[in-house]
Amino acid sequence: MIVPLPTRIVRRSKGFTFDSDTSVRVTSGAEPVARLLRSLLRPATGLPLPINDHGQVLIALDAKLVGLGAEGYALTVNEHGVMLRAATKEGLAHGIQTIRQLLPVEALRSSRVSGVDWTLPGVDIRDVPRLPWRGFMLDVARHFQPVPVVRRFIDLMALHKLNVLHLHLTDDQGWRMPVPAHPLLTSVGGWRAETNGDGVPHGGTYTRGELEGLVAHAAERGVRIMPEIEMPGHARAALAAYPDLGVAPEALPVWTRWGISDAAFGLHALGFVREVLDEVLDVFPGEHVHLGGDECLLPEDVHGRFLRQVSEYVLDQGRVPAAWEPTGDPRSVVMPWKDETQAAKALERGQPVVMTPHTSTYLDYPRSDDPREPPGQPGYVVTSRDVYHVPLPDGVLGAQCQLWTEHVRAKDHLEYLAFPRLAALADTLWSQRPEWEGFTTRMRLHSSRLAALSIPAEMRRERCEHS
Ligand code: ACM
Repeated sequence: MIVPLPTRIVRRSKGFTFDSDTSVRVTSGAEPVARLLRSLLRPATGLPLPINDHGQVLIALDAKLVGLGAEGYALTVNEHGVMLRAATKEGLAHGIQTIRQLLPVEALRSSRVSGVDWTLPGVDIRDVPRLPWRGFMLDVARHFQPVPVVRRFIDLMALHKLNVLHLHLTDDQGWRMPVPAHPLLTSVGGWRAETNGDGVPHGGTYTRGELEGLVAHAAERGVRIMPEIEMPGHARAALAAYPDLGVAPEALPVWTRWGISDAAFGLHALGFVREVLDEVLDVFPGEHVHLGGDECLLPEDVHGRFLRQVSEYVLDQGRVPAAWEPTGDPRSVVMPWKDETQAAKALERGQPVVMTPHTSTYLDYPRSDDPREPPGQPGYVVTSRDVYHVPLPDGVLGAQCQLWTEHVRAKDHLEYLAFPRLAALADTLWSQRPEWEGFTTRMRLHSSRLAALSIPAEMRRERCEHS
């Protein structure tokens, strides 16, 4: 009944009950995972789960468990206790999410629940993901999302063993990341006067410390953050701060409308972009950095030169660029979002591909064709079933869902759009043999987990407006 479905699960006759005498034993390096398990279980259960050298729960990090790969884990529960093993901290982090899901649903509540037996059924689980890139993109540029909202998304991703949070940090309507050498990016670019004529100013920016905190929070949970700095188009917030960087130097305010703006960085902005990327690579230690690259009105040759030069710079720094379009370097990750030929061409060129087709992964489209759905991006409906059947041509690294926030501002609305569709994505990317019918059966119980986590199952329009 676990989402995503484990690779192999064998029931045993006798399970184990966590109580006030239960303690946790760890091998070297597994202490943070034990503390995470305790902090996840404590709000609902109140259990102390101390770490000592005779605990009935063993959490073991063992680099020799090569068969489990970079993210797999093995979990045994019997009448004597619990044994969780993995070769990596990521694997252990995924394993403790399975422990959470094996417990009664109430274990996921955020406040104390009494009268529940915290019993894990007896199991032998061996679990390895099918694909290494299981992502979620959150657009914090169109509507700024405060740190607690992003942290909670990381927690919810971790519950589903999703492992890449793609943060869309800049766009025409807002620049959210501070760059000390260019302070106007946030002080000017972080704010817009209004949105589509509503007369209400909107904005917000993160501090460096907050972003580093998110990186650490994510890493503890087996999630890495890929930052995105949009270029050369979708750059009007930056150009509002520094108009001289534009292809047509013109003082324009941070954009107050949606769509494709004709503002773009010129080639003379490459030095500035390198300085921005130096800060980005310093704050976000992960392998990938996303350069945007989409929907730009520059002539194709200028656009191509721009992206090629920036991706070379990223590669020179020992990192790997990703983009919505090919960057001209075969090592860069392509995210085909328009149609299937985009993916086929990238795969033919031998590029790494992460599937992001809008018709099955854009979560700003309504979840159903029910007229009571809150207003979203018009044009399509993307159901959980569509997400489950995201095309995954041979050789792709994985896929991710995109939550663009032109039409979404409030936390509840974001979570309503994200779930259960992200659960469908997780299941189809993690499970070795994804199967829609089985997923819908498991979703009956999993829906009560989402409810225990206060994820809204319905959305009233008025609640969409409040953050
Ligand atoms: C995109 O939807 N412009 C990537």
